[in-house]
Amino acid sequence: MNDDIILKFTNAELLINDSAYQKIEQQENSLQFADSLIKDVSGSKSDLFILTGAVVDQFLQKNTANQVISNYSPENVGIIDEGYDAIDSVKISQNKLIDVPFNFQVLQDASKKSYTNGEIKDFTSYFNSRFQKLKALLLKKPGLRDSYPMKDVGVRDDVVNVIGMVNDIRNTKNNHKIMEIEDETGFITVLIHNENHSLFEMAESIVKDEVIGVIGSKKGTLVIASDIIHPSVPRIEEKKMDFSAVFISDIHIGSSTFLDKEFQRFIKWINGDFGDEEQRNIANDVRYLVIAGDVVDGIGIYPHQEEELTIKNIYEQYEEAARFLGDINDIKIVIAPGNHDASRLAEPQPAIPEHYAADLYKIKNAEFVSNPSLVSLDGFKTLIYHGRSFDDLAMTINGLSHQTSDLIMRELIEKRHLAPIYGERTPLASEFEDHLVIDDIPDIFHTGHVHINAYKKHKGIHMINSGTFQSQTEFQKIYNIVPTCAEVPVLNRGAFKILKFT
Ligand SMILES: [Fe+2]
Repeated sequence: MNDDIILKFTNAELLINDSAYQKIEQQENSLQFADSLIKDVSGSKSDLFILTGAVVDQFLQKNTANQVISNYSPENVGIIDEGYDAIDSVKISQNKLIDVPFNFQVLQDASKKSYTNGEIKDFTSYFNSRFQKLKALLLKKPGLRDSYPMKDVGVRDDVVNVIGMVNDIRNTKNNHKIMEIEDETGFITVLIHNENHSLFEMAESIVKDEVIGVIGSKKGTLVIASDIIHPSVPRIEEKKMDFSAVFISDIHIGSSTFLDKEFQRFIKWINGDFGDEEQRNIANDVRYLVIAGDVVDGIGIYPHQEEELTIKNIYEQYEEAARFLGDINDIKIVIAPGNHDASRLAEPQPAIPEHYAADLYKIKNAEFVSNPSLVSLDGFKTLIYHGRSFDDLAMTINGLSHQTSDLIMRELIEKRHLAPIYGERTPLASEFEDHLVIDDIPDIFHTGHVHINAYKKHKGIHMINSGTFQSQTEFQKIYNIVPTCAEVPVLNRGAFKILKFT
């Protein structure tokens, strides 16, 4: 693949599908051709965001006749690429203000910005995007304003002040930590001495592939670290919340362990038809329901899953989901996929395809977004991420576990990345842009996946993990994981509450 062609379209915020790409590449002067095409498309008044082969043909034809293309017919705007299981993205309504009364907006969604089919390629562009985005954040930190390229470490005599991606970190025989970090110009080896207790303790949570700043001094070929700086977030100013939002995930409809009655009770409550007076008052205040993935149990997610399914067909699982969620009145429902849903597994996961969930798409107030995504709920920036990377972080960092997902969420916020470790259990697509960098600071960070509720406020950010509507599975029994079932987190005018439907 010619990266230059793809990059031209990336910079112009346009997607091209394979067929368009082939046609462009076949042109005698493909880069110049790409430029004219981008200019032409950008100048058109259409909402074109995916450039298909048909659009290229149209441009070619009209260009031959010396005509200017100004409009594109909607049927030319199609599927992103074959790797998406034929997602009909055009029908996904995103990046727009929804009609009153909801002041809802999709701020970031990767559904339409993905270029690859999840194969491990274009590594360089992906890691470069991750590095540049996080480096830009680190450069704003006072201690790193004077940072310089790593190639200069050997020739300068002053304090080492660099920004780099962690290649490797391990303990030495003497129980110090040794870390290799690199930037575009070179790499250095950093020693974190165990007598520097606070720094050593902080370094316990450094993982491979995250981007950090290091300040230190040279000793031979080593750099002795005196400080390590994460991209982090400043404390945010809390806004006044005059509505309530409900957060759920991991419903697992279709599984024999799906808690049907409890979920029915929840739907009744959210409609104001269940609970005591206080609970009903909260329900009357709810404007948003956010679902952070695993709406259904899926098919073929793990070996012998069919033995634990009551609905063995993915379409029927989503039909059943639509029966439940379709009963919800006057609430905006925001739905992101998880690893059990029928979306591409590699993250960022595009929104659940309409192809699989036609009935869900018929729900008037439903919005489908990618995993991860950033939405605005009446001005409250809400970062939605299913949480697959929790598996990797729980395995890698001492003291973190599925039971303490609030601590994991804090790490992710501080690292400004939703899945910092590359190449473990979280499949990450090597996109040209790393969509899992936390570019924007959210007011609310909502995750799921671990089936255990957690809540913590970190620097003013509400961090919520929303448990499950699935009772303990066979797998969880083996690992002694006790889920929090049918206990629903609610932000009730800014106050965190748990409502139980057991
Ligand atoms: Fe999950």
